Amino acid sequence: MQIRVETTQDYQQIAEVNTLAFGRENEANLVTAIRNSHFYIPELSLVVEIDNFIVAHLMFSYIHLVGEERLRVLSLAPVAVMPEFQKQGIGSALIRHGLEKANAMGEALAVVLGYPLFYNRFGFVSSVIYGIKSPFDVPEDVFMVKVLENFQAKYQGEVVYPPAFLRV
Ligand SMILES: CC(C)(COP(=O)(O)OP(=O)(O)OC[C@H]1O[C@@H](n2cnc3c(N)ncnc32)[C@H](O)[C@@H]1OP(=O)(O)O)[C@@H](O)C(=O)NCCC(=O)NCCS
Repeated sequence: MQIRVETTQDYQQIAEVNTLAFGRENEANLVTAIRNSHFYIPELSLVVEIDNFIVAHLMFSYIHLVGEERLRVLSLAPVAVMPEFQKQGIGSALIRHGLEKANAMGEALAVVLGYPLFYNRFGFVSSVIYGIKSPFDVPEDVFMVKVLENFQAKYQGEVVYPPAFLRV
């Protein structure tokens, strides 16, 4: 199993992985929209490859945290593992790798909307603990943040997503 950065040759397989994992095309379309935006971070769109076949993908992209200042932080979305490769630790390995890389790149904060039982194991906690507000009307425990080494207490406010996310 190899974790590496996506290349343009991977785009079609990545779309298939997302479509199969989510059972719809919304997330694959989100990936394309992010790639075509200023919010795309090529180094943080990662794939898991097994025998030259892409079985999982994740993408971190830029969003904003708006409080007293407007700060650039990371969104983790989407994360997708092909159904027949799920529950084998692949998604966890990919997320850990991505978080380590984001931290090494000097990023301060990652935001995710997802299953608390899954994301808590990587250190994601409810955003309200840090005074960070979700723009979505969702339960507090599913809107989570992971603070990285460069996190500062001033990182507070409401998260603002680019329009592409609001269509998912
Ligand atoms: C969620 C997902 C990325 C996890 O990847 P994975 O490789 O299967 O995960 P791992 O094998 O590393 O870990 C398995 C964990 O996934 C979590 N998980 C998977 N699907 C879940 C679900 N529907 N609800 C809650 N937890 C879930 C479980 O907590 C499981 O934990 P366990 O090992 O204690 O049973 C993958 O199942 C997937 O692609 N699902 C469909 C798309 C999706 O929902 N993406 C995430 C959006 S937030």
